Order: sequence, then C-alpha cells, then structure tokens
Amino acid sequence: MQNEKIQGSDKLPEIIQGGMGAGVSGWRLAKTVSKLGQMGVVSGTAIDIVIARRLQTGDQGGDIRRAFSHFPWPDMSERFLDDFFIKGGKSPEEPFKLFPMPVLQMKRSAVERLIVANFAEVFLAKEGHDGLVGINYLEKIQIPTIPSLFGAMLANVDFVLMGGGIPISIPEILDGLARLDAVKLKIDVENNTQNYNYYSHFDPKEFCRGELSELSRPRFLAIISSDILAKTLARRAKGLVDGYIVEHYIAGGHNAPPRKIDKSNPEPPQEYSQKDIPDLSKIKAIGRPFWLAGGRASPEKIKDALDLGATGIQAGTVFAYSRESEIMPEIKQDVLQLCMDGKIKIITDFKASSTGYPFKVVDLENTVANMEKREKRKRICDLGFLRHLYSKSETEVGYRCPAEPINSYLKKGGSSDLANGKVCLCNGLLATIGLGQIRQYGVELPIVTSGDDFSSVVNIVKKSSLDYSAKDVIDYLKS
Ligand SMILES: Cc1cc2nc3c(=O)[nH]c(=O)nc-3n(C[C@H](O)[C@H](O)[C@H](O)COP(=O)(O)O)c2cc1C
Repeated sequence: MQNEKIQGSDKLPEIIQGGMGAGVSGWRLAKTVSKLGQMGVVSGTAIDIVIARRLQTGDQGGDIRRAFSHFPWPDMSERFLDDFFIKGGKSPEEPFKLFPMPVLQMKRSAVERLIVANFAEVFLAKEGHDGLVGINYLEKIQIPTIPSLFGAMLANVDFVLMGGGIPISIPEILDGLARLDAVKLKIDVENNTQNYNYYSHFDPKEFCRGELSELSRPRFLAIISSDILAKTLARRAKGLVDGYIVEHYIAGGHNAPPRKIDKSNPEPPQEYSQKDIPDLSKIKAIGRPFWLAGGRASPEKIKDALDLGATGIQAGTVFAYSRESEIMPEIKQDVLQLCMDGKIKIITDFKASSTGYPFKVVDLENTVANMEKREKRKRICDLGFLRHLYSKSETEVGYRCPAEPINSYLKKGGSSDLANGKVCLCNGLLATIGLGQIRQYGVELPIVTSGDDFSSVVNIVKKSSLDYSAKDVIDYLKS
C-alpha cells in the first residue's frame, strides 16, 4: 500500500477536464481550462498523426511551428516539418499523406515524430501560464507509449492519466524516464501459447543530446472503474500511482466492460449492473487522492464528490462541445441542437471498438452511427493504432485489427465473431476533428462519442448559447 503524501498536494485541481481522443481535447481547450485554475488534459492518442495532418492543412496561425521551434533538438522537429508541412495547406480533394503504422521495431523517424508531437501538444497547452496540464493515453495502445511519455515530459507535463486497461508498468517507466534510464514496456500479444516476452524498448540517451541530466517526473493518475483494480495498482505497481480517476460507466469514450454476473454464461455481458459501481469507501481507504468521472459535471455533484472524500471530479462531455474543443463546429451544433430538442441518444456499442471495450456513440445522422452509411464504407486499416499483435515466433509478431478488411483479418487467424460490428475508430475519430482521410468515395465518416449525461450541457446552453466556451463550463461548475 502506498502511504507517501502526494508532493505539492496544495496544487491538486478540483476540476479535471478529461482527456478526449483523438485530438478532441487539444491544446486550446486544455490551455483555457488550465488558465482558469483547473486542470486541462490534452489527448496523446495518435497525436503524431493529428499533428502531421494539422501541418498538412497549413498550420494556420503557426502554433505547431512555434512549438517545434522550442523543441530542444531542432533537427528532429525540422525533419517532421520537412516531411509534412504544406504551406497554405493541401487542397481539400487531396488525401493526407500515409503514415507508417505502429510496429514493435519502430524506425527512428517514427519514434522521433512521437517525441516531437507529444512535446508540441503539451508545450502549447502550457505556454504562457503556470497552470496544471495533463496528458491522457489509452493503455490498450501500447507501442507508441514510451516515446510519447518522453516527449510529454520534455515539455514538463504535470500529470499523466491513463485508462482503458491496467497501466501497471507506467509509474515505474515514468521514474525511469525522469532519470533518463533505458526503459521497457511488456506488450500484450495474442496467440502467445509459448509465453514469450515481447517488449517495447526505449533509451532516452539515444535521442537527447547536450546538458539534459534529468526530467521532472509527472504525477500518475490511473483511470479505473473498480475498487479491486485500484487496490491492485496500489499494491503491485512498482512506481507510485499518485491517484485515481474513478470512472462510472455512463462516462464518454471507452468504458470498462461490465463484470460477469452469470459465471456459467461464456458470453461477455452486454449491460451494466450494480456490480459495476465501485465501492468508493475502499478507494478512499487506499489513501490516495481520487476524482469521480461520468455524469459529475454539476456544482451539486461536485459537492457530493467532495463529501464522498474525492478531491474533485473529471468531466468530458460538457467540454467536448465547448468552443475550444477540436470537434468540427457543424458536429457540435448538430449535437447541441439535438440535446436542446430533447432528442439526443447515446448508444453503448459493445462491438464497435477493436479494443474489445464498450464504446459510447452519439446517434447522429452523418456519422458511422448511421448503419446505412456505415455499411457503404470500405473496410480499410491504414492507421493501425488499435491493431492487435499476435505471436508468430519468439522474435516475430503479426498485426491484425478486427476492423480491417475481413479477408485479410481472417487470413491472419482473426475470428469472424470478433470482426462482426467493428468500426474503424482510428479513421472515424480523426474525421470528427476535421482531419478525416479523403477516399475515392469521399471523406471518412466521423464517429462521435459522448457520455450519457447531457444535463450540464443543457444548463450551460440555456445560460449562454449553442456556442459556449470552456470558461462558461468552469463558471457553471463553480457556481
Ligand atoms: C469525446 C470524448 C472522448 C473521450 N476520449 C477519451 C480518451 O481518449 N481517453 C480517456 O481516458 N477518456 C476519454 N473520454 C472520457 C473523459 O476523459 C471523461 O472521463 C468522461 O467524459 C467523463 O464523463 P462525462 O462525459 O459524463 O463528463 C472521452 C470522453 C468524450 C466525451
């Protein structure tokens, strides 16, 4: 059990704007929230592609180039710029440049891009103020993790938040990176009947030059949905888990799968029950700060969270539709209008995500939620963040995604059951932030995720308008 007092606990925020991928909680949103004295969190998921695509649309305002110019080893950021920046932006009909998919033995150029992109997003969120900034990652996306953490730490990120799995090795990796030690992360590999160990390795010294002798270690918050997992992390993680985000299954994005009630039924359950609500008294007993997430965005629910012993709350949905979020303005308007008309519908899709975790989807006309439109899309896997690794030999792995073209998935030993109902989240989520790939048949369809609870959105829109700011959100939450 970890009993150490958290360092600088006077600087813990009451409100955390949750990390929202891919690119939804960009630096603009996080910076706005941080400047208001709370904590803004950028999303580190696929941020290398997000930045490469922003560069191809011309980097209007020059923010990314400004961030790159502050990168400690300019030849690395210049290579990124040379490969992707298009002055004035590409033409709208031209596809974005293909990006190599993540693989275990990454080329140096891909690792450099991860480091530079994570640095840039955090640098911009922290620029010009001394508020707290965090970065969010999904545990299920493992290959880019260590270089991404290193890039974020070069920009002095204050917190790392990770969910969507069991991030047991991350605290120790953060300790190692802070000392500039070589570190490794054990990678999950399917069909690994021989129990081989596969690792992603990273040595900061291969990238840093000059006087850098150490980095400051960001605090680590594990995003969890069960008190058992909170306890396991506290007991078994080698480094310090500084706190927890306790997420209810009504939260936006991915949710933890429901726990089995009927143990004799081999099928995973498709609905949540009382068993999925964590016992907060057990989490409190661990003695670490924790924040409650999922339908917690109101002054009353913040007070309730504090009464339950939490340090505060994390909110996502209410920020996702604010002016500063990166969701395309027309999608924001459609969702907010549906919400105000009382017609918003959120589906917990148990099949869509290749992670195998349930994923919340807004039922919206011009998105993949429209089954007719979804079925017209040709299955393509060209980003590959959610590919599963499978064992071929002690030294060789293969890559497959249940959302890739079905024949190639089956050829690689995938099962048709798993492929059924899968949606390409990588392409869909990038389309949601206006960076969708251009295909022969048009632009990729967006996929929009949100939590079940829109009550705070209704309250804020009533007070301001369909176009509200993150400041309106904070003012409401603090009212
Ligand atoms: C658009 C959107 C994207 C999200 N993406 C992520 C993500 O990439 N990683 C993550 O840990 N949580 C993600 N979340 C969850 C939020 O960080 C937050 O915990 C959650 O939204 C809180 O519940 P609420 O939506 O009811 O406020 C996402 C939420 C939304 C609305």
